[in-house]
Amino acid sequence: MEKKVLVIGSLNMDLVIHMDKMPEKGETVLGKSLAYVPGGKGANQACALGKLGAKTAMLGCVGQDVFGKTQLENLKKNQVDISGIKQTEELPTGTAVISVDSTGDNNIIVVAGANQACDEAYLKSMEQMFEEFDYFVFQMEIPCEAVYYGIRKAKEKGKTVILNPAPAPREIPEEILRCIDYLTPNETELASLAGLSCINEETVREGAACLLKKGVKNVLVTLGEKGVYFAAEGEEKSYPARKVKAVDTTAAGDCFNGAFVTALAEGKTVSNAIAFANLASSIAVTRNGAQSSLPQREEVDALL
Ligand code: RIB
Repeated sequence: MEKKVLVIGSLNMDLVIHMDKMPEKGETVLGKSLAYVPGGKGANQACALGKLGAKTAMLGCVGQDVFGKTQLENLKKNQVDISGIKQTEELPTGTAVISVDSTGDNNIIVVAGANQACDEAYLKSMEQMFEEFDYFVFQMEIPCEAVYYGIRKAKEKGKTVILNPAPAPREIPEEILRCIDYLTPNETELASLAGLSCINEETVREGAACLLKKGVKNVLVTLGEKGVYFAAEGEEKSYPARKVKAVDTTAAGDCFNGAFVTALAEGKTVSNAIAFANLASSIAVTRNGAQSSLPQREEVDALL
């Protein structure tokens, strides 16, 4: 039977500004363009799953405004079931201001808005969904308590739990780490979670080992153009990234997560799922924006 994926997380409208170089403290620079693009780590991951053909639904909250409407329309267009997404009158849809420089690197400031209403009470009201779905994907742009509630609930029901710890909290309780099947930090998030003072090949390995020791089953560290480092008990492997010219790395990690879970839900091995996700995100970085950069299934398959 086809496996079903539930993404629980944020939906934002991204205000994307391209510029030659990021401003220094106190400096004013001229932007080259401004675009409004549907984003939010949760919505981006759901959109990636939907576009790649996974049976996907999302839980999260938007405001009753134009940004929320645009976001819902885009997810629906990309085959994500949005029927459980809450629309609140009390808060505006989440917003992110994203600066992208000429190398494709970015800085992101998120104002949570309606994402704050994706709380424990709302997830409790959606309890039947914890029975229905097989894979549960979380990030950390909604209240921590809601993320932890969702993770506990999914595990209690024997489901597969994926946590993309972005943005990374200082620490995640060990009781929660023990519920996580796949943890997918980038280098910065790994440093924060494992208390690393610098990041290099050696410390990435140490950081992943530290999280495995605390009970996570599989750690996948996304390293941008350096690919992915994978570790599980008694196993480790590095996966190089496909060489491309990046124009905008926004949502590359989200694309990786969505593609990885798509492949897992199809029954691919972890190794093949990482390879598939690496290819998908190598396409995303060659395009502008968050959901606008996510590839179609045929595009990824063509690279296999
Ligand atoms: O991961 C990229 C996303 O982070 C953006 O779409 C932005 O909304 C922030 O949530």
